[in-house]
Amino acid sequence: MTDLFSKFDPLIEQREQLLSTGLTDPFNLVMERVESPTVAICNGKRTILLGTYNYMGMTFDPDVVEAGKRALDEFGSGTTGSRVLNGTYAGHRACEDALKDFYAMDYAMVFSTGYQANLGIISTIAGKEDYIVLDIDSHASIYDGCALGNAQIVPFRHNDTEALEKRLKRIPEGAGKLVVLEGVYSMLGDIAPLREMVAVSKANGAMVLVDEAHSMGFIGEHGRGVSEAQGIIDDVDFIIGTFSKSVGTVGGFCVSDHPKFEILRLVCRPYVFTASLPPSVVATAATSIRKLMNSADKRAHLWENSKRLHAGLRQLGFTLGTDEPQSAIIAVIMPDLEKGAAMWEALLNEGLYVNLARPPATPAGMTLLRCSLCALHTEEQVGDILGMFAAAGRATGCIS
Ligand SMILES: Cc1ncc(COP(=O)(O)O)c(C=O)c1O
Repeated sequence: MTDLFSKFDPLIEQREQLLSTGLTDPFNLVMERVESPTVAICNGKRTILLGTYNYMGMTFDPDVVEAGKRALDEFGSGTTGSRVLNGTYAGHRACEDALKDFYAMDYAMVFSTGYQANLGIISTIAGKEDYIVLDIDSHASIYDGCALGNAQIVPFRHNDTEALEKRLKRIPEGAGKLVVLEGVYSMLGDIAPLREMVAVSKANGAMVLVDEAHSMGFIGEHGRGVSEAQGIIDDVDFIIGTFSKSVGTVGGFCVSDHPKFEILRLVCRPYVFTASLPPSVVATAATSIRKLMNSADKRAHLWENSKRLHAGLRQLGFTLGTDEPQSAIIAVIMPDLEKGAAMWEALLNEGLYVNLARPPATPAGMTLLRCSLCALHTEEQVGDILGMFAAAGRATGCIS
């Protein structure tokens, strides 16, 4: 018998080597208690959260929590069924209505996760004969959607509009073309030049899908994302998003103005062949989405936090993923996995949680400490965070 697990041996060895130094496992942390969107108890210690993607701090919003409790009482703990059978409750419709209002679009479809939204929409609209042109740094759920649909995949260099154009021009005349982009790329926190890219895509007869997972609620006048901020949202055919970041719960969605959009509910396998979200989840999502429509003050404060942290980290001597803050994600580039893991642990010991990211999730083999800011981080907390980075950076030799 061939042990089907032998392919994991190099990873097992790398992990064992890392942990043999006595390091805390960076991928096995338990939040023992969560006090607020910005503070939790980890290893018995009060810890500032700087790696949760809880951009708008909606997880403890009293209206959101109350809506969830009410739905739990009135509709029970789960739907036990697919959206196309017994799994569509009034709350699922209300959640889709909130999304249509939020994006000012005609159609919205809610999935059980953002991963499934990409998997479902991409695999259903682009099949074997079609071409998907995508940024090489695209999220795993985008790649998996391409694979599930069996489309021809044509990657292009990250954020390179010329490369995108060249790839589009090489596709045979008359073939179906889908360009897949992200508003914010979550590893380095950089944004896409969507204005140019969408123009090039349209000029070459492609439909465009933009994943706005990391910009919803924060970027753009109404929080609709980078497509809104760059003034091209009306040219985007499909926007994909998630409830697991700014919305503060779990779930995914696609919004669109395509007149035939509703047919997807019958043909999209990751929508049809899975149970729908629990009533409490769609109730919290709908309430949160409607509150995010009127959150300009929080958006402004989050920008302030992002600018303050970016400038402070640079001043301390860290190498960052972007020259200027472009989103609520600030990536600190580490020299290697060992140093990155040591720095991650030192920060945790100081009382700060960030995400440790490493290949294959990261571009160009980088090890990153990814910081995601929250609109509820206070100015004082950002100051404390910088103090912890200074202490941990010096203790581990990452800065002098
Ligand atoms: C760009 C992007 N798209 C989609 C997803 C999937 O979202 P979810 O957590 O809802 O599955 C993520 C989550 O990490 C993401 O970063």
